[in-house]
Amino acid sequence: MTFEETNKNRRSIRDFKNTPVSDEIINQVLKEALEAPSSSNTQPFKVVVAKGDILKKIGEDLTFKYNTGQKLRKLNIFSKIYTAHKYKLNVNNVYKTIQGKYPEIFQERRVKTGFGLYKVLGIKREDKKARAASLARNFTFFDAPVGIWIFVDPKMGYTSLVDAGLFMQNLMLSATSKGLGTCAQGALNLWREPVDKHFNVPKGYELVCGLSFGYPSDHIVNSYRPEKIGLEELLVSKRK
Ligand SMILES: Cc1cc2nc3c(=O)[nH]c(=O)nc-3n(C[C@H](O)[C@H](O)[C@H](O)COP(=O)(O)O)c2cc1C
Repeated sequence: MTFEETNKNRRSIRDFKNTPVSDEIINQVLKEALEAPSSSNTQPFKVVVAKGDILKKIGEDLTFKYNTGQKLRKLNIFSKIYTAHKYKLNVNNVYKTIQGKYPEIFQERRVKTGFGLYKVLGIKREDKKARAASLARNFTFFDAPVGIWIFVDPKMGYTSLVDAGLFMQNLMLSATSKGLGTCAQGALNLWREPVDKHFNVPKGYELVCGLSFGYPSDHIVNSYRPEKIGLEELLVSKRK
């Protein structure tokens, strides 16, 4: 594949085959991801790769947190606090995903992208149950056989986030070039405790993002290609 083809073929994959991915291929993709630039070549990231029984357990823990969090909405404030504390439901507060509405034009783009996805899935706007079930699939990695989590050392400040993003994009393009699929997921950044239970993430490292990783299935959801903004929206105009 040319770069243009690889770049075009990379789309967020939200349904995977259960075909395992060999360690050899995973390692090759990670090595290619490491070719990414980073500030002064600091490479301030650490990566967790989970598969098999461990991934299943992480998925069960995340799903439990998500489902319990959904039920919290119906409880009174005291039961909410008690339950959130008991089941450690408070979400990651460091590199947090925005809860609730996004600001300004970003909410518009988010809604458009979200409804585009539900349309492909045949989920009606008002069908909250189906939407919640679709969201919940984030926590079982859309059935992917591999889950990847990216942590950075926050002592490196903003460049650590830039570096992590570049690393992730290299990883996703490398995967695409090998016929694999990925989905970067802020949803996998909500709770890190299920991952920490199984892996020795170095002290102080903070979770930035998770990714599902595997071979794309031919489910219709994977045909979704959300529209990107055009250059006229991208480019800043010159001062008159
Ligand atoms: C930081 C980040 C977080 C994301 N979080 C999620 C997520 O939690 N769940 C999901 O299904 N997709 C998630 N995505 C995928 C985006 O929705 C997707 O990249 C966007 O809609 C554009 O589609 P494309 O990747 O197919 O080009 C995330 C992407 C990024 C870069």
